[in-house]
Formats: sequence, structure tokens, C-alpha cells
Amino acid sequence: MPIDLSPIDKAKFVAAKRAAQFVESGMKVGLGTGSTAAWLVKCLGEMVREEGLRIKGVPTSTRTSILAREVGIDVITLDEAKWLDLTIDGADEFDPQLNLIKGGGGAHLQEKIVATASDQMIVITDASKSVETLGAFPLPIEVIPFGWQTTKSIVEEALIGMDVLGRDVTLRMNGDAPFVTDEGNHILDLHLKRIGNPRQLSFVVNQIPGVVENGLFLDVCDAVVIGYGDGRVEVRDIHEGTITEDKFDFLGDDNIFGDIAD
Ligand code: A5P
Repeated sequence: MPIDLSPIDKAKFVAAKRAAQFVESGMKVGLGTGSTAAWLVKCLGEMVREEGLRIKGVPTSTRTSILAREVGIDVITLDEAKWLDLTIDGADEFDPQLNLIKGGGGAHLQEKIVATASDQMIVITDASKSVETLGAFPLPIEVIPFGWQTTKSIVEEALIGMDVLGRDVTLRMNGDAPFVTDEGNHILDLHLKRIGNPRQLSFVVNQIPGVVENGLFLDVCDAVVIGYGDGRVEVRDIHEGTITEDKFDFLGDDNIFGDIAD
């Protein structure tokens, strides 16, 4: 392992490596987006090339699709797959019920569609994403460009009646221009600080014309795999209520520590 890999990257790597063990030959697998999911795609690529793993991958973004093809994963669309055995993805926050905030990378729309079309969703993460209550991470909502300022005003108005601590709404930028998602939309980030009632918020926001989807993943995630910088991994399974632990060493993984296209 390169010595300049940070503890957080080591944590993301071991979470991805542990989650890759849930993938079996013949599976159709949703491939998440983000820096943690990129490690997963690299791990699966190595298993395809060196262990004969046979899977079909459904990427949740253009970036993940490019990386998956690069590492040798057979990529298909969700419409070709129709239904998936498993999706593995990162998250920006998870709470004790394994509800999530996603979309920090701007891909939550496709991520939510793919995760919902899967028998199982596993989140891979480092411990910093664990929270008691969702909302410290700004909640992304994808909005269509047409009339986005009007949509923003209606979202702001809707937030007045919500159980949240902050109500600032900002348009996500990419340099001087609005950020554009894979679907050609924009992202509004809701700086709520604390979300008291995620179900109500998710429902209300998604009713507003112009809003395509919000980044709350409620009752979607089945297990969270948490990696630590020293190689420890914890698996929290929502159904079995179990916490299991493993430890990985980094020896022998030098070949997948190349630059990650993310
Ligand atoms: C992408 O839109 C997001 O949902 C990511 O899954 C999330 O932001 C986690 O990304 P990292 O693994 O890079 O923290």
C-alpha cells in the first residue's frame, strides 16, 4: 500500500473490500458513486480479472460506468438488468435505523432508482458518516433547470412548516456554472442541520413540481459496512440486528491502489 494513503482512504478501502465478499458469481450488482464506491468497483474488477467472478454491473453514474469498464466489469443498463440482486454504494450520513442522506456527489437520483430495484442495498463507509439524527450534511434535491428559482422558493416556503433546525437552500455550483447531473438537472442543497421528521420532509419535498428526487434513503439500506483506518471492519445488519467485526491487512493489495477516476 502506498504510504501516502490517508487513514480515511484506508477505511473506505477495507469497507469496500469486506462488502465485495457479499458479491457472488451470477449476480447483477448495482455499482454506487463516490470515492468509497470507487474502491468497491476496483475490488470487484480485481475479483473479475483474477478470481473469475462473473457479474453484471449496473452503474449509478457516468463516472462509475467509465471506471467499471476500465477495471473489466461487464456493464449493463438497469433496463437490461430489470432487477438486481445487490447494490453497494457509499453514503453521506447514516443513522441508527440505517436511513441515509446521499447525493453529495450529485448522483442520488440514479442511485435511488438502482437501490430501490435491488433485493439488498449495502452501504460502505467510514465511521465519520455515522450520526444520531440526519441533517448535518446538506440534503441534496435534484430539480429540473426550468424555473429552478421558483422551485427553490417553493422549497424554502415548504421548509417553514418542517421540523428542521436550518432553512438555507443553495444552488450547487460547478465553478461559475450550476452543477449539472447525469440527467441534465441541477441540485439544491438544503442546509437543515437536523431533520426531525425525514419521512414527512421527503414526502413534502417530492410533491413540489420541478423536484425530481431528494437524497433521503429511508428503509432502503439493509446493512452498513464501516471501515476503520487500522483495517477493522464492522458490519451492521438492520434485519438481523447484528454487528460483526473483521480485520483486514493491506498486504497484497498494491495492484488496486492506482488512481481512482472519481
Ligand atoms: C453520490 O451522489 C453520493 O451519494 C455518494 O454515494 C456519497 O456522496 C458518498 O460519497 P463518498 O464515498 O465519496 O464519501
